[in-house]
Amino acid sequence: MELRMCTGEGHGIIVFKLMPGVRVPDEEALQSPILGVPSPPFTFPRLLSCPSSHSNSPMEPSQSAHQYGALDQNDLSGMQLSGNKVRKLEFLMADAVAQGADSVITIGGIQSNHCRATAVAAKYLNLDCFLILRTSNLLVDKDPGLTGNLLVERLAGAHVHLISKEEYSKIGSVTLTNVLKEKLIKEGKRPYVIPVGGSNSLGTWGYVEAVREIEQQIQKGTENIKFDDIVVACGSGGTIAGLSLGSSLSTLKAKVHAFSVCDDPDYFHNFAQGLLDGLKAGVSSRDIVHIQNAKGLGYAMNTSEELNFVKDVAAATGVILDPVYSGKAAYGMLKDMLENPKKWEGRKILFIHTGGLLGLYDKVDQLASFIGNWERMDVNESVPRQDGIGKMF
Ligand SMILES: Cc1ncc(COP(=O)(O)O)c(C=O)c1O
Repeated sequence: MELRMCTGEGHGIIVFKLMPGVRVPDEEALQSPILGVPSPPFTFPRLLSCPSSHSNSPMEPSQSAHQYGALDQNDLSGMQLSGNKVRKLEFLMADAVAQGADSVITIGGIQSNHCRATAVAAKYLNLDCFLILRTSNLLVDKDPGLTGNLLVERLAGAHVHLISKEEYSKIGSVTLTNVLKEKLIKEGKRPYVIPVGGSNSLGTWGYVEAVREIEQQIQKGTENIKFDDIVVACGSGGTIAGLSLGSSLSTLKAKVHAFSVCDDPDYFHNFAQGLLDGLKAGVSSRDIVHIQNAKGLGYAMNTSEELNFVKDVAAATGVILDPVYSGKAAYGMLKDMLENPKKWEGRKILFIHTGGLLGLYDKVDQLASFIGNWERMDVNESVPRQDGIGKMF
């Protein structure tokens, strides 16, 4: 199978060729010690070959494959497609239970995958869940609806508290969660606060652990792959802190490349440093992770090119990237490969898909304009009809 894609005017094309993946046997399914649910086995590594040389003609496939990549489907990590969030929550929820909490509070954007994963994880553990969700000033007093992550959160009975973007940026996520915490304590509850994206030093362990799993999978696989690079999206910083620390401590020693979808690389270096210091890691984030900007139009906003890219990858591979995180990171990676081919030439790359499928539902209007593969079925007069209305099933 082959995928050709244009990543913007004048960028030419890049070709992905899917090769047979190696499925880790069922007994290797990851066991979540805290939440007590087995995560499904990774489809790891699903190999991709990405030639760095590219043709100027969008219809002419490139012949030579200088690079190859693998896809680690952390989007299939369990718990209603929880992606990377479930890894951090394993540790955070364990702490909540150990501290005797009866409820959790967390905070994020209106389509936060982390908030949705927390809502589900809370119910697995019989905890109440309170979410503070950031939305536009225009929508903050209206029912937020049931699109994407909101549907799962509300089905799972999470208590949704809306906050405007303006209030959020003026008050800050820490104060907002503390205000709600105080209120709940006064009402007799025992809430545990989880920060934005589950990204604190404790949650960071989730991705240190993920590296251990990748390492084991490589060791047990038939090919002895040595990855040069790990590529992943960065939204709140915990995933890259854990991955880069894990990679530098393990036999992997792969260079971690983060594509940030909000804020800027400097902010994330400083934030990741705080998480690493909290673990007494004794390393500098600038030495172990390279962060590039893939924000584009802004957090959770997409250009048509980005969404077209997500559509092309889905149509060619069946892998559904999300529009806010992995879609932007993969798009940013390919753009960088095209602009800086030397940097990536000959590298073995592991791209980590961190989930977020439900966020696509928030983009249906924008996607509709370039998804047109439907038609009315042609049943002309020669196709025999039954009397009456016919049988439905
Ligand atoms: C699907 C998805 N991928 C990646 C990320 C980024 O991970 P992190 O917040 O740890 O930087 C997030 C959340 O922010 C996410 O929801």
